[in-house]
Amino acid sequence: MRSLSELWGSTIARKWIMAVTGIGLVLFLFGHLAGNMLLFMGPEAMNTYAYDLKHLLHGAGIWLARGGLLLFAVLHIWSAFTLTRRIRASRPQGYARTEHRTSSIASRSMALSGLLILSYVLYHLAHFTWGAVHTEWYDGTYTLANGIVVHDVYGMVVASFRQPLIAVLYMLAMVFTGMHLHHAIQSAVQTLGISHPRYAPVIRKGGKALAIALAVGFGSLPLTILLGLVGGTH
Ligand code: HEM
Repeated sequence: MRSLSELWGSTIARKWIMAVTGIGLVLFLFGHLAGNMLLFMGPEAMNTYAYDLKHLLHGAGIWLARGGLLLFAVLHIWSAFTLTRRIRASRPQGYARTEHRTSSIASRSMALSGLLILSYVLYHLAHFTWGAVHTEWYDGTYTLANGIVVHDVYGMVVASFRQPLIAVLYMLAMVFTGMHLHHAIQSAVQTLGISHPRYAPVIRKGGKALAIALAVGFGSLPLTILLGLVGGTH
């Protein structure tokens, strides 16, 4: 029987870790997108949601979620990195059959879009969570209908996306997030063994549809705010 350390080091275990953590991160994205859609409903809805999220389980909820998210992100990047290194090391020198070339193009573009997403997330956290960049719109407050004074998340997002450079940066980030997910969702499903020749086209189309839904959903926010369709005179 294989020892636990052999199993942990195996390629299939690394692929499973990458698939499971990737699916977890996609679920987070759907939750995040649903929350962000409240921006379309105005400052009261968005700021109440942001406030409630921070006070879930007396403030412990958000830290639990952050811990889980960080663990998933670290495991996802680590498994992707070690798998890529392993594939490179095992590829025979000068061996250039078409299928190898195709798969290496796919994995190279996944590595590139993954690195771009990582850079985007760091910038995004510095922007909206840490208030370390674009600080001029970070400190606003908003008084909810019940009188509680909260962080004006709505005002911060709207003021930021009124800046063409920031809005375009976010929209670009959604393009490569969508590209990464397009390939990733299918490949995760395959790793987990859910694929079957009969369902392969459905899975391929479903993965593509989910990737497009996320990219278009997130991208709709900077676009509509930049065009002045959302945010009014805020
Ligand atoms: C137009 C698109 C997006 C908007 C408007 C947006 C907005 C926000 C806001 C306002 C926060 C801070 C909430 C707060 O502190 O009150 C936040 C946090 C965060 N966002 Fe986004 N987001 C977008 C897209 C994304 C994408 C595509 C990702 C991942 C690839 C992402 C990952 C995160 C993460 C990890 C956090 C930190 C959660 C936390 O620890 O509090 N966001 N986002």
